[in-house]
Amino acid sequence: MSAIHLKSLVKRFGPFTALKTMDMEIADGEFMALLGPSGCGKSTTMNMIAGMEAPTEGRILFGDRDVTQVPMGQRGVGFVFQNYAIFTHMSVRQNLDYGLRMKGVDPGPKTAAMAELLGLTDLLDRPSAGLSVNILQRLAIGRSAIMEPAIFLLDEPLSNVDAAFRAVMRTELKALQRQFRQTMVYVTHDQLEAMTMADRIAVMDHGVLQQVGTPLEIYDRPANTFVASFIGSPAMNLIPGEIRGGAFTAPGVEIPGFAAADGPVTLGFRAEDAQVAASGEIQAPVYSMELLGDSSMATLQLGSKSFAAIKAAKDFKVEIGENLAVRAPARICHLFDAQTGQRLSGAKP
Ligand SMILES: Nc1ncnc2c1ncn2[C@@H]1O[C@H](COP(=O)(O)OP(=O)(O)OP(=O)(O)O)[C@@H](O)[C@H]1O
Ligand SMILES: [Mg+2]
Repeated sequence: MSAIHLKSLVKRFGPFTALKTMDMEIADGEFMALLGPSGCGKSTTMNMIAGMEAPTEGRILFGDRDVTQVPMGQRGVGFVFQNYAIFTHMSVRQNLDYGLRMKGVDPGPKTAAMAELLGLTDLLDRPSAGLSVNILQRLAIGRSAIMEPAIFLLDEPLSNVDAAFRAVMRTELKALQRQFRQTMVYVTHDQLEAMTMADRIAVMDHGVLQQVGTPLEIYDRPANTFVASFIGSPAMNLIPGEIRGGAFTAPGVEIPGFAAADGPVTLGFRAEDAQVAASGEIQAPVYSMELLGDSSMATLQLGSKSFAAIKAAKDFKVEIGENLAVRAPARICHLFDAQTGQRLSGAKP
C-alpha cells in the first residue's frame, strides 16, 4: 500500500512554525498537488514525507507502516527536487541508468522506454553538460521515474522551464502517473498546474492547510477568501459590503435574494459567471478593458478601492469610464465572513 497519512504534522525551525498541525490523507495511486504561495510550507511538508526533515510533532504513515523515524533511503520514495540534480559528467543514458545500476539491476529496455516517453531518445548518447534547462528537467524526472517508486514526490519540477515546455510537460507528467499508477505528491505555486494535473489539491497559506478537494470543488466552493483569490485566473471578484434584509449592497452593487443575517460580508463571484446586460445588479464605470483572445475582460470600478472583472465577448466594445450594467444574481455569488474570510452559507447552493 502506498497511501500517505499525515497525522498532526508540525514543523518548527527554532521559534518559527513553518507547518501548523497538518492532517491529510493521500490515497494509493492519487495525484495530490500541494499548492500555495512562496514560503507557505510546501517544501517543508514534502521534505518530511521524503524523510529529508524530521517532523517536530506528529506522524507519517505509508499505508500501515509508520515511517516517521525511517531514513529517506529506506522509505522507497522517488524525489525530484526544486533544483534538478543531474550528473553533468554523464551522458543522458548513464543518468537514466544510474539508479537501477546502483541497485544492481540491469536497466535493459527500461531506459529506452523512459527515453521514448520523455522524448529523450535522440539525446541518449549526448553528454548532459550543455543540454538546455528544459531537457535537464525532463531528465531529472526520468531518472526518478525509471525506478518506478510507489511514491513519487516532485517539488516544483517545472519552475525553471519555459511556458511552452511547461504546457507539454503537464500533459506528459499526467500520462506518466497514469501509466505507473504511483501515489504522486506534486508541489507547485502555479494554480494552473495544480488544476490541470491533480486529482485533488491541498491549498496552503502561512503553514496552514486551507482546503483539500478536487480542482472543481476548490474552484466552485472555495473555503475562504484566500482560496477564492488564489485559484482561477482572474481571481474570484471579492467585494466588501453588507447584507441588509437579504440584499447585498456595496457601491454600485445591489443584489437581493440572500439567506444570510444582516451585517458586513465579503461577496464573491467569478468573472465568467456574470454577464454584461441592458440592466443588472451591478452598475459601475469601466476602469479597464483587455482582449484575452477568445474573450475580453472588463474591469469595473465599484468603490474607491474595489474592482470587479467581468468576462465579455471578444468583440465587446466599451469606452473607459462608460457605465456598464452587469447581471450578477445571488445564485452565482459566494458569501464570506468579513473578518475571518471563511465561507458563509446563504449564497451559492
Ligand atoms: N531550515 C530552515 N530554517 C529556518 N526556516 C526555514 C527552514 N526551511 C524553511 N524555512 C522557512 O519555513 C517557511 C516555509 O518554507 P518552505 O521552503 O516550506 O516554503 P515553500 O512553500 O516551499 O516556498 P517556495 O515556493 O518559495 O519554495 C519559510 O518561511 C522558510 O523561510
Ligand atoms: Mg519550496
